[in-house]
Amino acid sequence: MPSIAVIGAQWGDEGKGKITDYEAGKADMVVRYQGGSNAGHTIKVGEEVFALHILPSGIVRKGVVNVIGNGVIVDLISLDREIADLESRGHSVEGLKISDRANIILNWHRLLDGAEERLRGKKGVGTTGKGIGPCYSDKIARSGIRMGDLLDRELLEERLDTVMPMKLKTMEMLEVRLAQNHDELLSELLAYGKKYSKIITDTSVLVNDALDSGKNVLFEGAQGTMLDIDHGTYPFVTSSNCVAGAICTGAGVGPKRVDEIMGVLKAYTTRVGAGPFPTELNDDTGKMLLTVGGEYGTTTGRARRCGWLDLLVVEHAARLNGLTQFAVTKLDVMNDMKKIKVAVAYDVDGKRLEHFPGNFKMLERAVPVYEEMDGWKGWKADETMEVVRGGYEALPKEMRQYISYIEKRSKVPVRIISIGKGREETIRR
Ligand code: GDP
Ligand code: IMO
Ligand code: MG
Repeated sequence: MPSIAVIGAQWGDEGKGKITDYEAGKADMVVRYQGGSNAGHTIKVGEEVFALHILPSGIVRKGVVNVIGNGVIVDLISLDREIADLESRGHSVEGLKISDRANIILNWHRLLDGAEERLRGKKGVGTTGKGIGPCYSDKIARSGIRMGDLLDRELLEERLDTVMPMKLKTMEMLEVRLAQNHDELLSELLAYGKKYSKIITDTSVLVNDALDSGKNVLFEGAQGTMLDIDHGTYPFVTSSNCVAGAICTGAGVGPKRVDEIMGVLKAYTTRVGAGPFPTELNDDTGKMLLTVGGEYGTTTGRARRCGWLDLLVVEHAARLNGLTQFAVTKLDVMNDMKKIKVAVAYDVDGKRLEHFPGNFKMLERAVPVYEEMDGWKGWKADETMEVVRGGYEALPKEMRQYISYIEKRSKVPVRIISIGKGREETIRR
């Protein structure tokens, strides 16, 4: 600290929620700056598990200000549901703030997400169905409705009058029907405005004031580098920038305001949804990672595709985000594997590639070139805290060698090692 970013280094679900919650023990403020409720961030504190989609992962830490920045697209239904769930479990969301500039996901975005996926047929992206693509498209096309609009009836009416006829035409073309009429939508949105009026604010001012007064601010990324709209496996990506650069535009801070950039790296690779994944394993090892790792989507429940660690992905993430450190997660899942493989290059049509290419057809033909190393003998599930207490040096030798190998190849130090779901099942180096 004082300011740190937590960024997914692969295709999402690396454990950003867990690491954000862990690091939030030192934070005054946690800020989400992109994505929407396509994200699913899991936190486990004691026996309690939280699956967050729109709320920042500092929300279960007392005294932390949690901010939904302007770059996030807000799903009001998801927001309502998550707040209600937390409150029913005795947790307060006091200190939650939402940017007045954040765009809102409306029902037509969800309907159009579904319709577009149906039209793509077999070539579908496998979206989460939350309306993410259509909402970000509308934002860029200047047809969005923003949180601040909900506080001003005249402004909101003018926006709906401009935007709604266009959306109705598009929906008619794609043969989907909106259940609400103009007046119903208007009153629903005004009611949300009333409900959230105290927490809708200029969050750029809030975040910059916190930084100016020396507060510890954590920027929590959603999705991951390989799902980034520019740098990911386009078109099999999400519709926002997920790399560290998005912090500036999505939270309203200058590029010099982030001190540390931590990449969250799963010890192996997973991906949910369609698109190229060169190190994917369609064998027993892949099945083992799926079952032992509990690799089922936090948002959609879909089984995640599993495979070996890919150093081309790691290098891509380190470079694009300017990573200054890694948190490596889920090393425990690889306990008791005899041999471990890591991709160090791809062979594409007889040519060796050492940087992740942009052409997805080429990626479909990529054959990973692997280096193999010894696995390590694990420990029993109830011994995890003993291992944690022993610290880094108490980890199995081959596990430490795997970590050193990642550091050497990526030139990024590993500062956090996660060996369990729980907040405390974590080693800081
Ligand atoms: P996020 O989207 O990056 O926040 O990750 P998700 O929460 O979607 O998925 C990560 C999953 O792995 C969750 O179920 C976490 O509880 C779990 N997890 C995180 N770190 C570890 C770890 O070190 N070991 C194990 N076994 N599970 C972990
Ligand atoms: P967290 O923050 C993993 C994937 C979807 C799909 C693609 C586009 O939990 O890591 P979208 O609904 O965004 O238009 O879907 O992106 N995807 C994620 N995969 N983790 C996520 O978030 C994801 N958010 C979107 O599966 O392939
Ligand atoms: Mg997730």
